[in-house]
Amino acid sequence: MMGTAKNRVYLAAIVVLLLIIAAMAYKFVVVGSTQKAEDGRIAVLLEPGERNLVLREMRAFVESLQLMSDALSKDDMKGVAKAARTMGMARSQDVPLAMVGKLPLEFKKLAFSVHGQFDAIADDAETIGTTKHTLGQLSEVLQKCVACHNSYQLKAPTSK
Ligand code: HEC
Repeated sequence: MMGTAKNRVYLAAIVVLLLIIAAMAYKFVVVGSTQKAEDGRIAVLLEPGERNLVLREMRAFVESLQLMSDALSKDDMKGVAKAARTMGMARSQDVPLAMVGKLPLEFKKLAFSVHGQFDAIADDAETIGTTKHTLGQLSEVLQKCVACHNSYQLKAPTSK
């Protein structure tokens, strides 16, 4: 009898621990660290250094897009591929794990798909090599830039 009661306590403790782990994983993977912003978007709460990292990446996107349009205007598909590759998947591995946990799932999905699309643009520029095809791909990527900016902003955790 005593043994069974003890087992029940152990079992309850395990269930509670699993629920805590599941809640933490859910917060880390899905929810992130967010707050509703005054303008109706979702504010992702990041430390100043983390925010700087994201904004630096954003400016790198614009730089790459500038190089790509310049190369496109000259039918320089090698140049397109080179500029696109700099913003490919390899780039997204620079993000520290602690920061990944603060980004909501939808934000991460959008960010990964944008990096993936830059790789696809580079691949296709090397193989298909038509400016029209690349322009179509660029328009698709830009839609995701727009979609993310319409949904999210960045904010320091303490400021209200
Ligand atoms: C996953 C979400 C996401 C994607 C995708 C995204 N951005 Fe951003 N970007 C942001 C957020 C959030 C900010 C900060 C906006 C704010 O706080 O109001 C930002 C800011 C910027 C800034 C301002 C940088 C600065 O120094 O202030 C530029 C430029 C920018 N993005 C360009 C781009 C371009 C170009 C693309 C597409 C190739 C892109 N972004 C894709 C989320 C994203």
